[in-house]
Amino acid sequence: MLDFAFYNPTRIFLGRGKIALLGQKIPADARVLVLYGGGSAERNGVLDEVRAALGERRVGEFGGIEPNPVYETLLQAVERVREHGADFLLAVGGGSIIDGCKFVAVAARYAGDPWEILSGRGQTIRSALPFATVLTLPATGSEMNSGAVVTRRSMQAKLSFKSEWVFPQFSILDPEKTFSLPPRQVANGIVDTFVHVLEQYLTYPVGATVQDRLAEALLLTLVEAGPRALAEPADYDVRANLMWCASLALNGLLACGVPRDWATHMLGHELTALHGIDHARTLAVVLPAMLRVRREEKRAKLLQYGARIWGCTEGDEDRRIEEAIARTEAFFTALGLPTRLGAYRIGAEHIDALIGQLTAHEMVALGEHGTVTPEMSRQVFLSAL
Ligand code: NZQ
Ligand code: ZN
Repeated sequence: MLDFAFYNPTRIFLGRGKIALLGQKIPADARVLVLYGGGSAERNGVLDEVRAALGERRVGEFGGIEPNPVYETLLQAVERVREHGADFLLAVGGGSIIDGCKFVAVAARYAGDPWEILSGRGQTIRSALPFATVLTLPATGSEMNSGAVVTRRSMQAKLSFKSEWVFPQFSILDPEKTFSLPPRQVANGIVDTFVHVLEQYLTYPVGATVQDRLAEALLLTLVEAGPRALAEPADYDVRANLMWCASLALNGLLACGVPRDWATHMLGHELTALHGIDHARTLAVVLPAMLRVRREEKRAKLLQYGARIWGCTEGDEDRRIEEAIARTEAFFTALGLPTRLGAYRIGAEHIDALIGQLTAHEMVALGEHGTVTPEMSRQVFLSAL
């Protein structure tokens, strides 16, 4: 029985030339701090467009936020907010910059130890600076959601938080700004989006027909548009659809009234924290192994997924399920993402440390049924070797 509340206050402006809207949408008297990453936004001209659109406003800038944004760097950004007297933040970049901006928006107004923002998973947040985003990499959905993931290097901890205070006020999605992405980041974004959908779809049936069909629409779009985005990097329509797909995959819409898994993501975060593997690449490794280990728990949805996305309708159930998982792996591999830990020189001897991290972070009863114990996570890593 469907039963849910859906709330998403973020406005989206998608299209060519939409960065110019910043001039209208940000208050004319705002003191803006622009946050960006390692320089891609400077090189491809996005920052110049942003500066022009902000016009006469008092604008400061803070660059150098890393992929998998680092807590220590973000605290420096908070200092910069205070120096500049900023009352509005603008994130220009991918998920890492947007997530970093969310943390800075909260930390700038936080009275206690900012570590509590992460250790308390967002529960202690009572306020945040307003902010908007200019998205340059479709992947995380951060431009339209209220979550963020931050890494504290000194603790090798990659932790997420969620709060209604960190929905962006609005996000600008100009598909042309993704043309400069290296193929690796395009492929990462497609796989991240695909797995976001599966974390909310590939669980067990609850009669949520609309939710299922929405999820399947996004998956089919990714299967079709993914390879094209790599083959034709300047195709506007392909990039526009991927951008919208990524936002819809994780803006709360698919989650309405359905069970959610997220175990693949939690195991993946530990791979990033200990081994520095790109977020999406961790998912490409963990997901197929997770599905194989938990095939009984997910049997009905695996059959539905196989039939509707990959046309797996021949043979007995077990064969169809294996085919659905193998097709998923082949999709990731064709995009250039390996599906085995061996590709990253991770062997059985590294698994204890990963399990230790999961336990330390209280990730001991994951998945839609809470069945993913440390022992089951071990099986998943072992079957991904
Ligand atoms: O730093 P710059 O120079 O800007 O380069 C970036 C970075 O090296 C580059 N890039 C971005 N846009 C570009 C571009 N290069 C050329 N042209 C452009 N238009 O791409 C590289 C990766 O950027 P990053 O922001 O790290 O990637 P992504 O968007 O995949 O974000 C990954 C982070 O988001 C978190 C991940 O854990 C990871 O930390 N996630 C956030 C979520 C959320 N907030 O809801 C959910 C996700 O599951 C995920 O966990
Ligand atoms: Zn993700």
